Amino acid sequence: MNASRMAGRIALITGGGGEIGSAIARRLSREGAKVAIADLDVAKAQKAASDIIASGGEALALQVDVGDAASAQEAVAGAVRAFGGLTTLVNTAAAVTPDGTAETLPLEEWEKALRINFTGAFLMCKYAAPRMRDSGGGAIVNIASQLGHLHVAGRAAYCSSKAALIAFTQVLAMDFARDGIRANTISPGFILTERSSQRSGGKENARRLQGPKHLLNRPGDVEDIAAGAAYLASDDAAFVTGTDLLIDGGYVTFKGVIGPDGRPTM
Ligand SMILES: NC(=O)c1ccc[n+]([C@@H]2O[C@H](COP(=O)([O-])OP(=O)(O)OC[C@H]3O[C@@H](n4cnc5c(N)ncnc54)[C@H](O)[C@@H]3O)[C@@H](O)[C@H]2O)c1
Repeated sequence: MNASRMAGRIALITGGGGEIGSAIARRLSREGAKVAIADLDVAKAQKAASDIIASGGEALALQVDVGDAASAQEAVAGAVRAFGGLTTLVNTAAAVTPDGTAETLPLEEWEKALRINFTGAFLMCKYAAPRMRDSGGGAIVNIASQLGHLHVAGRAAYCSSKAALIAFTQVLAMDFARDGIRANTISPGFILTERSSQRSGGKENARRLQGPKHLLNRPGDVEDIAAGAAYLASDDAAFVTGTDLLIDGGYVTFKGVIGPDGRPTM
């Protein structure tokens, strides 16, 4: 970690009250950025911001519904008002979507997943990009998923939203390169959080069941994603745009398929 790599940067993190989002906010703060933490659940955003302030960082909590244009616009304006500009946008917010096929998943759930996971990033970029241009450029980091690469049965809405986010980010990179704005995705593997562990019945079960699907034989940690986000947001990635960074312990390379020995099949 570099304590001054993000000095002078102003970052807005959606879903910043969540486990991965708050880890990214802490990491960017530790590297010198001022961070605006925006979440639908404002209490979680406030807790994440208070923890950073208690550690000596500069942080602000904002409520946002990224799927609502006016709310997304106001979150960007709030960050700019508080800190005087915007250089860094990290889109982490995602909806919890029930499993279901095209036949069984209610249209409202399909639309909610697309609205928050995909259109939400579009809306945040719509309002953030001009402010980032005003600030002399910067970096957008969109949190996609290994399931945006390898799709699984019954999760059409989630997989489609994340695959679309990867495609959208590549177009963003092209559209805003001349403004000095880089855009990249991170595709995490299974990261041990409350949300991801629910379908395994809790974190301990998830560690046991999901870990072996990764070549490195463990689930990811939120800090693995925070480290990648800080890299992509920083000038260490000054020549990196339009790419997807798999932080997945080798899950996609080995297709997440485990053999009879309980390890990824080669
Ligand atoms: N945990 C994993 O295994 C994993 C794997 C791949 C990708 N991801 C992605 O990483 C991101 C974070 O996941 P997490 O495990 O930390 O989940 P999390 O539930 O802890 O965080 C998600 C946050 O998004 C917020 N949110 C939901 N709807 C919102 C809205 N409309 N507007 C603003 N905020 C909203 C939630 O309140 C929550 O704080 C998500 O995009 C997820 O798809 C996670």
